[in-house]
Parts: sequence; C-alpha cells; structure tokens
Amino acid sequence: MRGVEVSVLIPAAGNGERLGLGPKAFLRVGGRTLLEWALEAFREAAEVLVALPPGAEPPEALRATFLEGGRTRQESVARLLEAASLPLVLVHDVARPFVSRALVERVLEATRATGAAVPVLPVPDTLVRPEGEGYGEVVPREALRLVQTPQGFFTALLREAHAYARRRGLAATDDAQLVRALGYPVALVAGERTAFKITYPEDLTLAEALARAWNV
Ligand code: C5P
Repeated sequence: MRGVEVSVLIPAAGNGERLGLGPKAFLRVGGRTLLEWALEAFREAAEVLVALPPGAEPPEALRATFLEGGRTRQESVARLLEAASLPLVLVHDVARPFVSRALVERVLEATRATGAAVPVLPVPDTLVRPEGEGYGEVVPREALRLVQTPQGFFTALLREAHAYARRRGLAATDDAQLVRALGYPVALVAGERTAFKITYPEDLTLAEALARAWNV
C-alpha cells in the first residue's frame, strides 16, 4: 500500500466488555499491544487515525494521530472519518491483530475498482435457529459469510453513508452495512481465518500461538 492515497481508520475506543480485561487497544499479545499490531500491519499507510477510549493516554512513540472515540463503534468511526484527509479509507478494528499484506492489498484493489469492498469468509459450522432451548430450523450456511475488517471505501462515499445513518437513526456493527443502506453495492473479497476478532478469553490463547508464528 506504499504511496497509496489511503487513510487508515482504527476504531479502538471500546472497553472490551465481553473480554473483561480493559480496552483491547492496550491488551498485550506476543509482547506488543493490539494497537501496536494494527499499526504494524499498516506501517506503509500515508495516514493513520486511531480512536481511543475517552481519557486514555495516547501511547508515545507510535506513528498515528489519536482522537477521542464516541459511545459506539459507529460514532468512533464517524469521528475518524471527519479527520481523514485522503480519498480512500480502510477501516480496521483494533481487535484483529493478524492482518496480512495480501489481505490489505486485496481489499485496496477492490476498493479502488468499486468504491467499497470487504473481506468475508465461508461459515464452517452448521447454523441453527434455536426453538426455545431446542434445535430448530437449520440455516443454509452456503448462503452466508462472516464479515471481517479491514473494509475499504471511497472516503466521500463512507462519509455520505454515515451522514445518512445519522439522519435515519441507523445503528450498525460495521461500515459496509451503512454503505448498503445508502443503496450502494459493496464488493466481497476473500478474508483470512487468521484475521479473526479477539472477543473471548480463549481467543487470546490462540492469538499468543499465532503471534509466535507471525513474522513481522
Ligand atoms: O465491541 P465491538 O466488537 O463492536 O468493537 C469493534 C471495534 O470497535 C473495536 O476495535 C472497538 O475498540 C471499537 N469501538 C470503538 N468505540 C466504541 C466501541 C467500540 O472504537 N465506542
């Protein structure tokens, strides 16, 4: 991504409630914080903006611009978007430390071509809609995908999508949803199993093992 006109936006203002170990940005895996992992993955980016929890001390010696996040992920991204100065953005959750160069390139290429692109994975498990406490209707997994980050957009398009969501009171867990709500198509590219989101305590064990294998 060297020389590419892209602003990397990292919402890292969550409190990591499901994990219960404080803000994920400052969680250590393989001897470095999740924020350091994310910045390493995008070290060639022309601009990196990070939203931190209110009151958090911006870490020293990290090459990024730090802003205060909002009450939700969506609000944090909206703040980062306002500050972005380049024509493309990549939005990446701090909770996904293992992002390969190949994944970033795939997303960027599709974003340049279409204006909006996200990495997805097939669903490996059987999916079921529970009926009370029991086994209900099976949902065909072939029809579904798991959505990851980084997600790429024309900056102007994502700004329009966030403005539309604000006017309509839409709440979304990722940015592609808002672009779709605006009526604009979002391209899918192949995601990576290693780019999983650290959410539960056992994910940390997995992340420690991957950190040892990951050459950076
Ligand atoms: O909790 P969730 O999985 O939705 O968080 C996804 C990402 O959004 C995380 O990187 C988290 O730090 C970020 N976030 C944020 N501001 C919030 C809540 C979450 O930047 N208010």
